[in-house]
Amino acid sequence: MAKSIHVRVPGTSANCGPGFDCLGLACSIYNDLTLTLTHEPGLRIDIAGDGARIIPRDERNIVWRSVRYLLDQAGNTEWQGGHLEMVNHIPLSRGLGSSAAAIVAGLKAANAWLDSPFNRHQLLQFATAIEGHPDNVAPALFGGFTASITQGEKVECFTFLPRYRMRYVVAVPDFPLSTRKAREVLPEAVTRADAVYNIGRASVLVGALCRGSERFLQYALDDKLHQPYRASLIPGMYETFAAAKEAGAYGASLSGAGPCLIAFVPEKKHCAQDVARAMREKLRDFGIKARVLGMRLDTRGAHVLHHQDAQGQVSAPAAPKEK
Ligand code: HSE
Repeated sequence: MAKSIHVRVPGTSANCGPGFDCLGLACSIYNDLTLTLTHEPGLRIDIAGDGARIIPRDERNIVWRSVRYLLDQAGNTEWQGGHLEMVNHIPLSRGLGSSAAAIVAGLKAANAWLDSPFNRHQLLQFATAIEGHPDNVAPALFGGFTASITQGEKVECFTFLPRYRMRYVVAVPDFPLSTRKAREVLPEAVTRADAVYNIGRASVLVGALCRGSERFLQYALDDKLHQPYRASLIPGMYETFAAAKEAGAYGASLSGAGPCLIAFVPEKKHCAQDVARAMREKLRDFGIKARVLGMRLDTRGAHVLHHQDAQGQVSAPAAPKEK
């Protein structure tokens, strides 16, 4: 039986309102990848689940490109071809980090295949170089909430967990929205007043999550850098935020570049169902069909599920050098 590596990567919600291109969280929805590399050239890709009909099954595939990227970074020419088996649960092009999950899955699995020559911070550099911004790939790699900065070419991120338990209610509209299109509507420059508005809220959001100051969350998800410009792409967006709050959420924001909308809901209020219903109904009022997912924070990030060697022996991963 051939050696294979099986990895699981969480979906992610970037920006968290005011933290445009910097903040993100990992949530409890996952894509799985099983990777087998071969000495001979040739690629076989099997895909089940979300996007199975439209994701390319050739050299253009982003998971495969990420595998190749890592092999190149390692200077490895031994492995020329491979077999990818993808099982996708993260909705494609909806703002839940499906492309980040694909990149991280390819890097993580290829790294494990080579016995982990790179640590997670190095994988973050690679993933950001491929994705273009760190706010989805960081939580996909590390789990929890992440705050990322780029310093020249280098990306730094720290991870943290909120002091209180929350549910994350995500409305998934039945239409895709490409990140490219959602970035095209953004202005090149913003006013100082809008910058200050976001700096304050992003700072308060991180502080409030770390210290457990719940009352600040009612303001801390608001944003002036990207959501106002994207609102026309998601009819009823602000009204749906208001409906979620009315039903008991702390607040809500666009998830990444959208079109998903995410509400932060206090676990102790047991109102996730009410928030879900309110969001679905409000979007319906604006002619948008949406399914609603109730998720938790993923605190683990991308991980190797098991490693099967060429004799078919299955083992839990060795204590990763990457941790
Ligand atoms: N920060 C990015 C954006 C996330 O809002 O455009 C999308 O991948």
